[in-house]
Amino acid sequence: MEETSLQQLLLLTSLLCCTTNQASLTVSPSSSQMFKGDSVSLSCEEDDSSAGWTLRRNTTGQTRAECVKWGEAAGSSCKSNYIVPMDSGVYWCESREGATSNSINITVTDGSVILQSPVLPVMEGDDVTLHCKTKTSNLPADFYKDGSLIRTEPAGHMTIHHVSKSDEGLYKCNISSHGESPPSWITVTDKPTTTAPPPTYIAPCPVSVAPPPASATLQLVFRLVCHLVVFCLYFISTLIMVSLYRHRPTGNDLAVSMVMTPPTQAEQGLDDDYDDIIISVTTEHHF
Ligand SMILES: *[C@@H]1O[C@H](CO)[C@@H](O)[C@H](O)[C@H]1NC(C)=O
Ligand SMILES: *[C@@H]1O[C@H](CO)[C@@H](O)[C@H](O)[C@H]1NC(C)=O
Ligand SMILES: *[C@@H]1O[C@H](CO)[C@@H](O)[C@H](O)[C@H]1NC(C)=O
Repeated sequence: MEETSLQQLLLLTSLLCCTTNQASLTVSPSSSQMFKGDSVSLSCEEDDSSAGWTLRRNTTGQTRAECVKWGEAAGSSCKSNYIVPMDSGVYWCESREGATSNSINITVTDGSVILQSPVLPVMEGDDVTLHCKTKTSNLPADFYKDGSLIRTEPAGHMTIHHVSKSDEGLYKCNISSHGESPPSWITVTDKPTTTAPPPTYIAPCPVSVAPPPASATLQLVFRLVCHLVVFCLYFISTLIMVSLYRHRPTGNDLAVSMVMTPPTQAEQGLDDDYDDIIISVTTEHHF
């Protein structure tokens, strides 16, 4: 019984610890569509390389396939010098414990037109530029969203200013006499709520302290909270262990007696528990 509860606590704490390990997947060139024959490199940019992040992909032919099945691995990166339409699919990084990074959709076409759109979700309020191109040039192009023509651009690229949720959708383009690109999803995410101080704020002391960027602060707070939670779990597990130890059956008592701990004893102060553990340990040594 002591062992199982200890194991559960250890499992819980290790799970909590692992949530601080994160990785993000990047792709080079940064495009969600590519031509057959292009080369591509994907890498897992990790916080902690000991977490063993590996690149995986789902394509029509493979599920959760690792780099060795289709490319050349180098650390947590994977490179392919000649991609084909069969390489189209969703790519992500996965740690040994099963944590996952962001995922990226890649479409490889053997046609002659691609739509270059952002591989990562676009932040609300940002500007986004879509390029419709052939292998060699930028020509006048029509852009479609969810099947309807939205713009004709003589230079082959269009910019959406201050994107909003309503710009989310399935985009494609076509270039006359060359053809149509495959479609790609553009995802728009909410702007993170930043709690920046008002610009009129005057520091009480003439000390210039550069505040860390919002994302770094958030990460710091997250880690702090995680460490506190982990500390609390160790603390609680210590208390539980101490209380189980104190009420462990002696002689030929049955194991059942352990679960019948009166709650009032578990609520006793920490000092008491510490005194008792020392006593119990000494007693143990005497027998
Ligand atoms: C990959 O495929 C597996 C099995 O079909 C599925 O469970 C998993 O959610 C897929 N992963 C992604 C990121 O789509
Ligand atoms: C990938 O494409 C599917 C549709 O084909 C879409 O539902 C999903 O949101 C896309 N994922 C990303 C990360 O863009
Ligand atoms: C795109 O395709 C449509 C229909 O196939 C065609 O009418 C249109 O001229 C094409 N647009 C361009 C810019 O090639």
